Amino acid sequence: MPRRIVIIGSGGRLGAALMREWRAAGDDVIGFNHALLDIGDFRQVHETLAELEFDALVNCAAQTNVDRCEKEPDEAFLLNSKAVATIADACTRKKARCIHISTDYVFDGEKREPYTEEDEARPISVYGESKLGGERCLHAVSDSHLAVRVSWVFGPDRPSFVDQILQHALEHETVEAIGDKVAVPTYTLDAARLLRPLLDEVPLDGVVHLCNAGTCTWQEYGQHALDCALAAGVPLKGRTVGALKMAELKAFIARRPVYTAMSTALLERTTGLTPRPWQEAVEEYVRTHWAPRHR
Ligand SMILES: NC(=O)c1ccc[n+]([C@@H]2O[C@H](COP(=O)([O-])OP(=O)(O)OC[C@H]3O[C@@H](n4cnc5c(N)ncnc54)[C@H](OP(=O)(O)O)[C@@H]3O)[C@@H](O)[C@H]2O)c1
Repeated sequence: MPRRIVIIGSGGRLGAALMREWRAAGDDVIGFNHALLDIGDFRQVHETLAELEFDALVNCAAQTNVDRCEKEPDEAFLLNSKAVATIADACTRKKARCIHISTDYVFDGEKREPYTEEDEARPISVYGESKLGGERCLHAVSDSHLAVRVSWVFGPDRPSFVDQILQHALEHETVEAIGDKVAVPTYTLDAARLLRPLLDEVPLDGVVHLCNAGTCTWQEYGQHALDCALAAGVPLKGRTVGALKMAELKAFIARRPVYTAMSTALLERTTGLTPRPWQEAVEEYVRTHWAPRHR
């Protein structure tokens, strides 16, 4: 019998990709989008999951708007911290593995080499605090549940930075992005491949980092996306991405960590899988998903 996997947040960028990719790989996947299940309604979560039989659950649902979290901290902690305890508890009752998606924003960004799972998490925003709270709620229920930290998520199921900068370059000659903030993009289709063995085959618990290989600034990330779109024959007006300083962006409400690249050495050691460089993932995304819609 195929294993049965529940995905909460299946309408989101990552959740939708996991649903599609794992179904295609032969898993029996049940998805709950926001309309079907509100994770802030603990009773609904409890009752919905109590009725189901499943082997593993992945929680991709979250309040992901970093500035909204700063303005609405109660909502952030409800959805990103407390709801995780209810979800993890329901999994424990079913003897199912709970994988909770977390973030690089648990770090303060003061390091200048990739963060490992051993590094202390010291968030500098409500979003980061609430996501770290989620990891703690998960592990308070059971040490054998797993928090998977991802960063700069992009993919075909919901627009992200890549789509926004490409759209801007279609319409404008001047394109700019932050040049002094460093992290690692995570392609949702690669995440689906790298996460899959963690559902049951690999005995990993606690926290693990998952992203593509390499590091970049938003400016480098955007420049590469533009180069890939031009190579794929899309007539962009903007061809060069100028550098902005993060301090110049007055629209930001929450503080953002300046450096949150993560090491995937633990993931590689335990799964035997190697994430490909972020440049290859962006190139594939632009060529196969974005460019055909914009030529
Ligand atoms: N995006 C990134 O760059 C990034 C970086 C680091 C970590 N992460 C983490 O990765 C995970 C997946 O993020 P993503 O990129 O896929 O973001 P996303 O597209 O915003 O997905 C989050 C999903 O959660 C749903 N949601 C929000 N409130 C909910 C509620 N009360 N009940 C049920 N569902 C609710 C949203 O539904 P609606 O949109 O319909 O409200 C959305 O489908 C999150 O845990 C996030 O913290 C993301």
